[in-house]
Amino acid sequence: MTKKDLDWGNIGFKYRQTDKRFVANFKDGKWDEGSLVDDPTVTLNESAGMLQYCQQVFEGMKAYTWEDGSVVCFRPDMNAERMYNSAQRIEMPSVPKELFLKAIDEVVKANIDWVPPYGSGASLYIRPYEFATGIVIGVAPADEYQFRVFTTPVGPYYKGGATPIAIQVSDFDRAAPRGTGAVKAGLNYAMSLHSSVIAHSNGYAENLYLDPATRTYVEETGGSNVIFVDKDGNLVVPKSDSILPSITRRSIVYIAEHYLNLKVDERPVRYDEIKNFQECALCGTAAVISPVGRIVNHDEVIELPSGMEKAGEVVSKLYDTITGIQSGKIEAPEGWIRKIC
Ligand SMILES: Cc1ncc(COP(=O)(O)O)c(C=O)c1O
Repeated sequence: MTKKDLDWGNIGFKYRQTDKRFVANFKDGKWDEGSLVDDPTVTLNESAGMLQYCQQVFEGMKAYTWEDGSVVCFRPDMNAERMYNSAQRIEMPSVPKELFLKAIDEVVKANIDWVPPYGSGASLYIRPYEFATGIVIGVAPADEYQFRVFTTPVGPYYKGGATPIAIQVSDFDRAAPRGTGAVKAGLNYAMSLHSSVIAHSNGYAENLYLDPATRTYVEETGGSNVIFVDKDGNLVVPKSDSILPSITRRSIVYIAEHYLNLKVDERPVRYDEIKNFQECALCGTAAVISPVGRIVNHDEVIELPSGMEKAGEVVSKLYDTITGIQSGKIEAPEGWIRKIC
């Protein structure tokens, strides 16, 4: 094993081609066992379901190096389950959980030199995805699919890491009522690109989406769920059928209740309640927990009392606990850590 010669503390969040990727194919009604390949290129027929009707689902997860040198993954069974459900919603054959987990193990081991070292603050981002390779022309599900997993080493998603960010309320909706917001399908992200470009050009790190039916409730951002802390120090977590069931958010709720003895209130959260809250943060695999100091909706500016200098008290505790669990410094609940090697 020879680690790649990267400046691990400053690698940013971008794609770097690593050595191996996993590929399995679905044909004649079944998945093959899959294998590791060198070629990062995908060749598709011009009428593949992926290219014509956007039949694609994906996941995002991370592998970490612990102090003893072992490499672990955080709750990969949850990603396997979510991609299984996402595929069902897009009329794709789901990747069996065992195949998903085998692919993760194999691809991480095969790219072990790319897994950032302990203490660097970086991790190996893992991108499992499935798409329609079969030919379609009338609007219909394809009959052939490919499942791939590639990896790329990454640092923090938002520049500044745990420094608070400012976000804006999007004028566009991300997901329709009774639409596909709760599944991780590429089509949802295509929907968010226009408002994401606008947010960035306005100087904001992210868009906050409101519920598409009434635009009165908080949904989530383009790449993470949102959490709040109220004036009494309770965690307030927006609940909606059109937001992605974030694995980080569900882990935070457990940590808040079982590690920090906080009261957790999971319910629809009105946008006009935010001005009464103490703290806000975005949470997700890429974002980990990113404190939000300011939320802007055209002329209306909400300054969270926790401010733009540093994370508030509760968000800091949640951040320390979840990153402590992911890095092996704090004991994880049963089944949360999968040791890969
Ligand atoms: C839209 C959206 N919401 C929430 C999340 C966070 O989910 P997780 O914590 O499972 O990474 C993500 C990122 O994966 C996302 O893309």
